[in-house]
Order: sequence, then C-alpha cells, then structure tokens
Amino acid sequence: MKAEQELIEIFGHLKNMIGAHRDMGLEPPPVPASAPPHTGRPKEAINYFLPDAPAIHKGTGTPDNHDTLEALRSHIGDCRRCKLHKGRTNLVFGEGSPKARLVFVGEGPGRDEDIAGKPFVGEAGVLLTRIIERGMGLTRKDVYICNVVKCRPPGNRDPERDEVKACFPFLKRQIDIIRPEVICTLGRVSSQELLDKDIKITRERGIWGSFMGIPVMPTLHPAYIVRNPSRERELKGQVWEDVQKIMAHLGLEVKKNG
Ligand code: URA
Repeated sequence: MKAEQELIEIFGHLKNMIGAHRDMGLEPPPVPASAPPHTGRPKEAINYFLPDAPAIHKGTGTPDNHDTLEALRSHIGDCRRCKLHKGRTNLVFGEGSPKARLVFVGEGPGRDEDIAGKPFVGEAGVLLTRIIERGMGLTRKDVYICNVVKCRPPGNRDPERDEVKACFPFLKRQIDIIRPEVICTLGRVSSQELLDKDIKITRERGIWGSFMGIPVMPTLHPAYIVRNPSRERELKGQVWEDVQKIMAHLGLEVKKNG
C-alpha cells in the first residue's frame, strides 16, 4: 500500500476514534506546552491503525458483555457490520441520561444527525426538542434519544432488514442498560421493530405496547408532521395525546396545552 493511502487510512481511523471517545464524553488530553521527549510509539496505539483492530472495528464479546453505555459505544467501535458504514460521516450512537425514565427511539440518523453525530438535531429534532421541553417540561438531558440504526441510510430511505438486524442488538442493549420506565417510538419503523409486528402508525399510535417488559408508546414521527404542514395542528394534537399518556404513566404534571 502506498504511503499516501496509508496516511489517509490512519487519519480516517483517528477521526473515528476521536468521534467514539467524544460519544463517551471523553475529550482529547490537553497538549502540553512543551511536548515530552519522544520515546517511541506505544504498542497499543499501533493496533488502532490496523484495519481489523478488534477494539475499534469489532469490539470483543457480544453487546451483552457491556454494562455501561460507554462500554457499549466502545464495543461498537468504528462499525462496519453492515453496508450503511460506507456512506456515513459519523455513527450516531444516542445521547441523554443513562438513567433516563423515558427513551425516545427514532428510525435512523438523517443528514444533519450524520454530520453532527447526534440524534434528532435537524428539523424533526427541533420539533422533538420542543415536545420534550415545552410539552413535557423536561430537557433532552433528562431523557435518552436514539435510533434503530446508528448510521444514516442513503437518501433517508427506510433501513433495510439486514441493516436493522446488524444494529438491533445495540439498541436492545442500550435499552437494557438504561431500563427506562417508558419507551416512546417515533414513527412506523421503530414502532414496528420494537413491537415486532407490522404497523400502520396513524392507526396504532397511542396504544400501549411492550418491549423487553417495558411499556412502549408509539407515536407519529416528528418528520411526518414537518412534511405535512397543512395538517400540523391535527398531527401535533395526536402526538400531544400520546405524550400526555406517557406523562401520566411517569407521574409528571400534565399542563393544559402543550
Ligand atoms: N429521524 C430519525 O428517525 N432519527 C434521527 O435521529 C433524526 C431524524
């Protein structure tokens, strides 16, 4: 392999490592004013540059071996388990409180999320944030937000079967680590996957289901509301109905209008 290609690969791996560390809440160490004398490259660091370095590319064991979100994120590493890795800028693991009482599950990152490496930061995310803050009186830090697939499907298409299959164990583990009191699935794709049946979301939203013994409230995807501005009032009203059920379940005070 040419030196130039090697360098490109190394920078690619470094970028992914830094992203993975940032997801874990770790910042790079400050650079000392005068660098310590060079004593040779540590052996472990060299491993990260190998294409099949286990810690970064595959992790060890299974997702179930990992008891914290940080460890699970590290296990996922610079994931190449399905074809979605080819088009992603950043893997979007999820964010929020590891002790959240409420977890929101979307479908998969869109363009803005792929760039930011964070879930629900685009137009749909603005609406979801408003629901959390103005509707529920919480903050994004109080809840946990993640997706069925962690890498952006090209052109925002639905994730395909093999992609969901590759990524689902990570979502399951995230939920099992957090063990929220309620899961709110946003839209058809996440509702179908968690409730394990075909769903017409406009008909079956607002009806409690269950995933891993945790109550699931399926509701409309905020992007659906953004895409249907002429029905905004009606659709927001439906989501508000579902949100009120969640709040009642959590014992949160329901305000008169969200
Ligand atoms: N839509 C989703 O389903 N998830 C995101 O993170 C953003 C948009």
